[in-house]
Amino acid sequence: MTTRLLFVCLGNICRSPSAENIMNHLIEQRQLSDQVVCDSAGTASYHVGSPPDRRMAQAAKAQGIELVGRARQFDPADFDRFDYILAMDRENYRDIVALAPVGQHQDQLRQKVRLMCDFCRSHSDQEVPDPYYGGVEGFNYVISLLQDACEGLLDHLLKHPAAP
Ligand code: 4NP
Repeated sequence: MTTRLLFVCLGNICRSPSAENIMNHLIEQRQLSDQVVCDSAGTASYHVGSPPDRRMAQAAKAQGIELVGRARQFDPADFDRFDYILAMDRENYRDIVALAPVGQHQDQLRQKVRLMCDFCRSHSDQEVPDPYYGGVEGFNYVISLLQDACEGLLDHLLKHPAAP
């Protein structure tokens, strides 16, 4: 059975494409491509069609990870397409939940839509900070935080292989 993950931030050019590509890197290393597949999206439409932010790509490259993909906007149909929807911060979380189909079971929604930092093991952050208006350090920090969260999330999936 394949578990489908969707990583979501605001613009889909910094945090969520990093999460997607870091997770794909781990999946490849552990030969899990037939078990876990990833995508990413933004709650906003400003950057639809754009490649990942150059500063973010630089920070990822320094850790051996190439950022690929083009931004797209989160679509309410994604609730059916994915098993987990990972929000980078609380605002993303609220924006995603606000688009849930009417009548969606609240328990199912809470199982499916999660905060990425809930899977961190070394960091105590509760949100992945938005690096867009800051300096290089912020981009580097996002990469280390997401590496921690992605490892924790992948281990969680291997322990709980059934979709939520
Ligand atoms: P992201 O970062 O949500 O991690 O992709 C941002 C990208 C663009 C903007 C803000 C955050 N923006 O305001 O254009």
